[in-house]
Amino acid sequence: MNVFYATLFAATFLFTCSSAIKEGETCVNDKSCDSGLQCGTCTGNVTVPPRCIRIRPHEPVRKVRGLPFNRYSWLMTHNSFARMGHKSDTGAVLLAPMNQQDSITVQLENGVRGLMLDMYDFEDDIWLCHSFHGRCFNYTAFQPAINVLKEVQDFLEANPTEIITIIIEDYVTSQSGLTKIFKASGLGKFWFPVSRMPNNGSNWPTVDAMIEDNQRLVVFTTKSSKEASEGIAYVWRYLVENQYGSDGMKNGSCPNRAESAAMNTTSRSLVLLNHFPDTPDLIEACKHNSAPLIAMMNTCHDAAGNRWPNFISVDFYKRSEGEGPPAAIDLANGQLVCGCNNIDLCKPKMAFGDCGSLEDSPAPTPTIEASTSTTAAAMGRGYKNSFADSDGQRLRFGWLLGTGVKKDASFTNNTTIILLRDWRAYDYF
Ligand SMILES: *[C@@H]1O[C@H](CO)[C@@H](O)[C@H](O)[C@H]1NC(C)=O
Ligand SMILES: *[C@@H]1O[C@H](CO)[C@@H](O)[C@H](O)[C@H]1NC(C)=O
Ligand SMILES: *[C@@H]1O[C@H](CO)[C@@H](O)[C@H](O)[C@H]1NC(C)=O
Ligand SMILES: *[C@@H]1O[C@H](CO)[C@@H](O)[C@H](O)[C@H]1NC(C)=O
Ligand SMILES: *[C@@H]1O[C@H](CO)[C@@H](O)[C@H](O)[C@H]1NC(C)=O
Ligand SMILES: *[C@@H]1O[C@H](CO)[C@@H](O)[C@H](O)[C@H]1NC(C)=O
Ligand SMILES: *[C@@H]1O[C@H](CO)[C@@H](O)[C@H](O)[C@H]1NC(C)=O
Repeated sequence: MNVFYATLFAATFLFTCSSAIKEGETCVNDKSCDSGLQCGTCTGNVTVPPRCIRIRPHEPVRKVRGLPFNRYSWLMTHNSFARMGHKSDTGAVLLAPMNQQDSITVQLENGVRGLMLDMYDFEDDIWLCHSFHGRCFNYTAFQPAINVLKEVQDFLEANPTEIITIIIEDYVTSQSGLTKIFKASGLGKFWFPVSRMPNNGSNWPTVDAMIEDNQRLVVFTTKSSKEASEGIAYVWRYLVENQYGSDGMKNGSCPNRAESAAMNTTSRSLVLLNHFPDTPDLIEACKHNSAPLIAMMNTCHDAAGNRWPNFISVDFYKRSEGEGPPAAIDLANGQLVCGCNNIDLCKPKMAFGDCGSLEDSPAPTPTIEASTSTTAAAMGRGYKNSFADSDGQRLRFGWLLGTGVKKDASFTNNTTIILLRDWRAYDYF
């Protein structure tokens, strides 16, 4: 262990002294990467060194405003509250799967705008919990839901142009239980009312209207009765979503989840893409969140009647080989906002689909701001199509491997790197 830490500090020292590393280039730790990036790789392949990977989508509303809410795509975390290393607030040891690496606050800071929260009656309160035979126990209970709602409140307060969506997996039966905690958390003032949500397939209000009216919190429940009783929107009246879990990850097919209308039901204006396995897996998430995620997004786009997802829900949202969940969101936003392959190509007032000269630009030079757009650009109009063909793949991975690999070839056979990488995979402790 001493040797390990010594090398760790040596490496950290070495790399914090050099200039910051850009997206797609090899790295040894997060500090060596430019801001907004994280050093990582999928484990299990020692020939691929860690690279600076973007963990944050570009913010579409900062790029182009004026469009309805359903013309944007938002990164969502599955079981957002189930953070690795979390101890139950009951004091018990948690015996529940963990799906994320960060607190809600850090997720929001990293551009996550959708949260999936499982809520239960517990201890005369409402808790974020996983169930065992439908019940919440000390060893599956994370924390009182109000704690997390207060984090959301703080974020909305501090960021007056941000919009957050919460989908509650709702097991709460106590009278007005949800209403009480939302009020108590101070989130009531940001509430987007059900009466403004279209249930006939028409457009949502614009993001500008939502921001102006300060109705920047969109909440859905899985309990249909609560729409009438508490004014909390029943989720499947407003969105369609594909099958969750491992059954939803079969490449080439995109069935709807049982409770949702068929994916191509256009009377639901919103589309949600689930892409995570039955059991969360930190190691495998890296692969799941990479090429297969984009492939599934394309499959579901077709199944949903040529509609791009408004929400993409994943486990361990920061894990990918590069081109992970943030790139999926950037692609969906590009398509939704301006008909291009990346939100970076969208300009205010441009004609839809007029993606401009960027598409003909020469081979990409990875830089933080331009990297994804140049990748998309290099792959041309057919990002979606070229993804499926071998040239697209080659181009894509060719760029990913990029210049950094050659430069740092010595590091590919270096136990320091291997140690760091394994350590990195477990960075929650
Ligand atoms: C490791 O990655 C390299 C480069 O992408 C690839 O050629 C090789 O097949 C991978 N090996 C395994 C075991 O996945
Ligand atoms: C569960 O946790 C609560 C504290 O939140 C404690 O009072 C109670 O005794 C615990 N129950 C068991 C069975 O450990
Ligand atoms: C859909 O509902 C909205 C009100 O929510 C209404 O303004 C609009 O005319 C309706 N559209 C259609 C096609 O029925
Ligand atoms: C919608 O998808 C179903 C299959 O899930 C298909 O049978 C149906 O024809 C589709 N409807 C439209 C309008 O495309
Ligand atoms: C998904 O399936 C298509 C063929 O339907 C194939 O071309 C593509 O490579 C597959 N993608 C992944 C990530 O397995
Ligand atoms: C491994 O990396 C360290 C820097 O962290 C370097 O000093 C050393 O020479 C490398 N060893 C090999 C075998 O490449
Ligand atoms: C890595 O280095 C060791 C000696 O330090 C050598 O035996 C081995 O062949 C090298 N592996 C590769 C893939 O270069």
